[in-house]
Amino acid sequence: MSQQPIDTNCMTLTRFFLAEQRKNPAATGDLTQLLTSIQSAVKAISAAVRRAGISQLFGAAGNVNVQGEDVKKLDVLSNELFINMLKSSYTCCLLVSEENETVIEIDTERQGKYIVTFDPLDGSSNIDCLVSIGSIFGVFKKQEGEKVDEKLAFQKGRNLVASGYALYGSATMMVVALNNSVNGFMLDPAIGEFILTDPKMQIPSRGKIYSLNEGYENKWSPAVKEYVKGKKEGPKPYGARYIGSMVADVHRTIKYGGIFLYPATADAPNGKLRVLYECFPMAHIVETAGGAASTGSQPMLDLVPSKLHERSPIFMGSKEDVADILAIIKKHEE
Ligand code: AHM
Ligand code: MG
Repeated sequence: MSQQPIDTNCMTLTRFFLAEQRKNPAATGDLTQLLTSIQSAVKAISAAVRRAGISQLFGAAGNVNVQGEDVKKLDVLSNELFINMLKSSYTCCLLVSEENETVIEIDTERQGKYIVTFDPLDGSSNIDCLVSIGSIFGVFKKQEGEKVDEKLAFQKGRNLVASGYALYGSATMMVVALNNSVNGFMLDPAIGEFILTDPKMQIPSRGKIYSLNEGYENKWSPAVKEYVKGKKEGPKPYGARYIGSMVADVHRTIKYGGIFLYPATADAPNGKLRVLYECFPMAHIVETAGGAASTGSQPMLDLVPSKLHERSPIFMGSKEDVADILAIIKKHEE
């Protein structure tokens, strides 16, 4: 790194996408264009999040989404940004958003070969109190000859060609899994560019932190109860951290190691988190960074969803920590 106030040869996110594209001589540049359009949406969302209190963007938009949740003004703005930027990138054929009940088919003039699933602003309950929130996205590729309809979204997570998240925390960061590597970029507000700060991110093989909503303990399965109880025992109990924003909880898990869990509960047998735009992209990032992600019965990325807003329990993080909970689940099934 240069000693000058600004690194004159810094690796911006746009430069990084171009460099990755160059690795594949047959690349058309469409994926670069797509990811760059997401970058634009994220920059605009970050700016809106940073001044939401001043611009009266906090609070409910007045409607309820397909999941029965109150939609916030920032949710609406973020969703519009994602949709408009992706449509005008001329690279997508189908979009799946947490905020839209049905898929969004791109008109033929602007159609490309990619399918993008996204949660434009995740962590709704944290928006109005200035706790970290995030955006999540996953990119699939349509095969030649495939018809453009909802069914294109029903494929296993392992088919993802890229995924990423943006974290609007104490700084804004974008983390992208592309070409078998995970890289993190911090937004430099002075120049409006994401700069590579966390190259080739790797999750520790074991951590010291567990992360789940303990308020639901009475509704957990006996296996989850046993696992969490075990984390509190012994000479070196694990620390507990739970922000309630998946992006922030998973980002911490990647940086420090440990485990993030959103298990099934007695009244939500599939948990809460949605497969296509929450579980899949985050599982793809965690696996690419050397961690593990499971539904409890199979690797998360092997699941094939059959509903757009399908949910799944999820256990993800350091390989050894995830292996521990899976062993306990298995023992309880025997
Ligand atoms: P959202 O998409 O409505 O924001 O819900 C998803 C969020 C995740 O970010 C987080 O992990 C989870 O909901 C927290 O749920 P809970 O409040 O049940 O612990
Ligand atoms: Mg969400």
